[in-house]
Amino acid sequence: MDNSSLFSQEVLLYITFGLVLIVALLVLVVAFYVLQVMKTLLEKNRTEAQQLAEQAQPSWFAQQWMKWNALKPLADEETILLDHDFDGIQELDNHLPPWWKGLFYLTIVYAVVYILVFHVFESSPLQEEEYAIEMAEAAAEKAKRVEDVVYDFDETTVTVTTEPEAIASGMEFFNGNCAICHKADGGGLAGPNLTDEYWRNGGGMKNIYKVIKNGVQGTAMIPWESRLNPDQMRGLASYVLTLQGTNPPGALPPDGELYKEEEEQ
Ligand code: HEC
Repeated sequence: MDNSSLFSQEVLLYITFGLVLIVALLVLVVAFYVLQVMKTLLEKNRTEAQQLAEQAQPSWFAQQWMKWNALKPLADEETILLDHDFDGIQELDNHLPPWWKGLFYLTIVYAVVYILVFHVFESSPLQEEEYAIEMAEAAAEKAKRVEDVVYDFDETTVTVTTEPEAIASGMEFFNGNCAICHKADGGGLAGPNLTDEYWRNGGGMKNIYKVIKNGVQGTAMIPWESRLNPDQMRGLASYVLTLQGTNPPGALPPDGELYKEEEEQ
């Protein structure tokens, strides 16, 4: 995971989902209110008979709306009219909408649960503790990964491996990735002949490993370090060395300088 991101992807997913849900709910509520306002405006244009007919038989939806908002039908408005009057301005004693009160009670219940879980029984860690736990977990994971990739050699100390598996996978990689330039038999094409004792960058295990790892800057020989781990590069370099002296037909002429194996030790 990216070190710069504080949240795990899972948490980000939850946050995104929550936000989308909230926005969707808000859109719904706004749409609902707009519909309601339009309805009120339309109401004025309808005949009294139509209105009466509807009041006698309100739809299920209208009933729910009245119920959850604790609305009084216009006809019953006098029952909640407060008895003061200020220059003809009067006030209705409307209740808070039950849906709003329900939400409010829910927050109280939630607060109680929250206090019990986080502060009384401490069954879940608070944010600072949770952060510390996650950091410790990440550190442990990182330590494990670093352990995995500690190699006890680099290009200055690498030695030939004779492990058949390492050589075999080296050959496989060579045929799939290197043969286009060096030919499958190592005779050379766009890249030099790898079967003779003449090398542009020095022969022997350490030099070959170094060329595979770092490439040769400014040439078609790119670094392969990002594609292969040190073990794989060692197997590959060892495979390249097995091509020494095979003298394949049609090989490119010697290129570079004669390299003597003794020089390496
Ligand atoms: C796109 C072509 C290309 C590919 C693919 C390629 N090489 Fe090379 N390679 C070159 C060229 C060109 C050189 C010569 C660089 C120079 O001028 O020193 C070279 C040089 C080398 C050398 C050093 C030769 C010397 O004389 O010093 C080795 C070893 C080598 N390549 C191995 C490999 C291996 C192993 C692979 C596959 C992982 C590979 N190359 C893939 C083009 C390629």
